[in-house]
Amino acid sequence: MKLNIAVLAGDGIGPEITQQSIKVLKAIAERFDHEFLFEEAVVGASAIDLTENPLPDATLDLCKKSDAVLFGAIGDPKYDNNPAAKVRPEQGLLKLRKELGLFANIRPVRAFERLLEHSPLRPDRIEGADMVIYRELTGGIYFGEKTLSEDEREASDLCVYTAEEIERMTHLAFEAAQKRRNKVTLVDKANVLETSRLWRRTVKEIAKDYPDVELDFLYVDNAAMQMIINPKQFDVILTENMFGDIISDEASVIGGSIGLLASASVGKEHALFEPIHGSYPQAAGKGIANPIASILSAAMLLEHFNLLEEAAIIQAAVDKSLEMNICTSDINKESSYSTEKVGTFIEGLILDNEDLKINGDNLSLGQATII
Ligand code: IPM
Ligand code: MN
Repeated sequence: MKLNIAVLAGDGIGPEITQQSIKVLKAIAERFDHEFLFEEAVVGASAIDLTENPLPDATLDLCKKSDAVLFGAIGDPKYDNNPAAKVRPEQGLLKLRKELGLFANIRPVRAFERLLEHSPLRPDRIEGADMVIYRELTGGIYFGEKTLSEDEREASDLCVYTAEEIERMTHLAFEAAQKRRNKVTLVDKANVLETSRLWRRTVKEIAKDYPDVELDFLYVDNAAMQMIINPKQFDVILTENMFGDIISDEASVIGGSIGLLASASVGKEHALFEPIHGSYPQAAGKGIANPIASILSAAMLLEHFNLLEEAAIIQAAVDKSLEMNICTSDINKESSYSTEKVGTFIEGLILDNEDLKINGDNLSLGQATII
């Protein structure tokens, strides 16, 4: 298969981790005789430095004409500490999501057997936890009208959803559940918010088309607690934009490190793949960032194009590196493996190692990203 991949490495640790996933994708291309072409463009704080725009037109155009976007991370402390900044790196990512119509953000979370001891949660509570969060990505409070009064003492962010936005998301979540354990949990705040009540009505209606899928509901405050005390109850979590942002960071502690969580953002025409962690500026350039979330995002990219065996091989190589303790220091404090060494190890496994034969019945990472 031939794929044109736009690479938006971004800020902080973005470039160093993305370099590792490109290496891994090149290894897959070599092993399976695919042609993957990579073209880079700037985004985020580094784009502001160069062009005063966090998403220059050239970057957006490249993404629009590519088959997929491989995204690193954005953000810089000089903006975090300056609430008055009019131009912010995050605006680049939000605009990109909107412009590409990436309405569904898919974040799989599972407890890695080898890392059970690394989670701050008790191993018996998280062992076997395996869920995927379907977060709506282009609506809600992130994108509603924002106001700031002239004296800057009153501000508002409007949360808006249409039934149509909820419907397209809900179908994706139910289809994913049918390929997993047939359960969808809608996370909302329907006891308080009108938008949440619209979510509930709309989702209940659509659930009738999927009689084999069990649907339950949790208020987001309760869901945040359930995530910690009994994460095994979750299969597919369906939720709106901001609740999904918050509970997916929370869920990352189940995996043992936020450096392991990948995500896919998909729409009707475009798809973008990125780790859920941020730009981690304190680690930038030190070679200590965990490249696995980015590498697993590359696996989700392949899965999106139905390259299931290729995706599963990356997954198997990642599992093997964790099993063999070839990992960065967020996972193993004593480890001296750098970002680059972990990437090279995984690349090597893909290129040379015949042991990575994978079980053909289990080729999916657990979620359909193809719509
Ligand atoms: C994420 C991030 C973004 C979000 C930020 C960087 C705008 O936290 O992808 O989860 O809030 O969506
Ligand atoms: Mn987030």
